[in-house]
Amino acid sequence: MKFEELISPIGVDEFHLRYKDKKHFYIKREDNPFSKHFSWGELDNYLNQYNIGTWDRTPQLQVVLPDGNKWCKKKSTQKYTRTELWNLWNNGSSFILTLSEFLNETMWKQCQEFEKHYGVGQANLYCSKSRDAHCFPIHADSTDNFLFHVSGTVRWYIYKEFEVKGGRTENATLEEVVDLNDGDLLYIPKGKYHRVDTLSPRISISFHFQDRAVGKPYNRRNWYNWKP
Ligand SMILES: [Fe+2]
Repeated sequence: MKFEELISPIGVDEFHLRYKDKKHFYIKREDNPFSKHFSWGELDNYLNQYNIGTWDRTPQLQVVLPDGNKWCKKKSTQKYTRTELWNLWNNGSSFILTLSEFLNETMWKQCQEFEKHYGVGQANLYCSKSRDAHCFPIHADSTDNFLFHVSGTVRWYIYKEFEVKGGRTENATLEEVVDLNDGDLLYIPKGKYHRVDTLSPRISISFHFQDRAVGKPYNRRNWYNWKP
């Protein structure tokens, strides 16, 4: 989906003038243009590759533990068996597939569309089985973030404050609470505090991008069509 279509009815000039680095916005849609970006079937395929064979097929998996801390398949010293992972999922942990833009053509090409306007970016998938899943506590991210709501309902809490180096987060004041679902888009400028509650099973995708260095578009490799 082209960047222009994605943020419509906000225009690109208006985006830069009013929202970029300044203010969040969301666009609710009746249809779901994100239905091909990722599916529950693809998540099922991915997670069934967990710890089979001798090489790591699920290196980008992260899990939000019940205490809100993050477990990384690649980096954490703690190891989980397939059954332990299954139990975490069924007991409400959100699963994150970082760097997931290469998992299918739609997400890959979506990144390419963003990179006409931004520097290098990536897609992180956020998936939860149920309402009230374990999610990250209030935080801010260091990149601009476009949240694609693929399936299910997420309640967003957006705070007024932007992150200041060395600042504290616990006093952030709520600016807006909004429920977003299938087909809805949310933009969060870098540094802006936020958190979520899940109101149902959900798949959402965070497409997040560095600002582009002036005159230096990021040229992602082309997606080759191997299909005969
Ligand atoms: Fe975030």
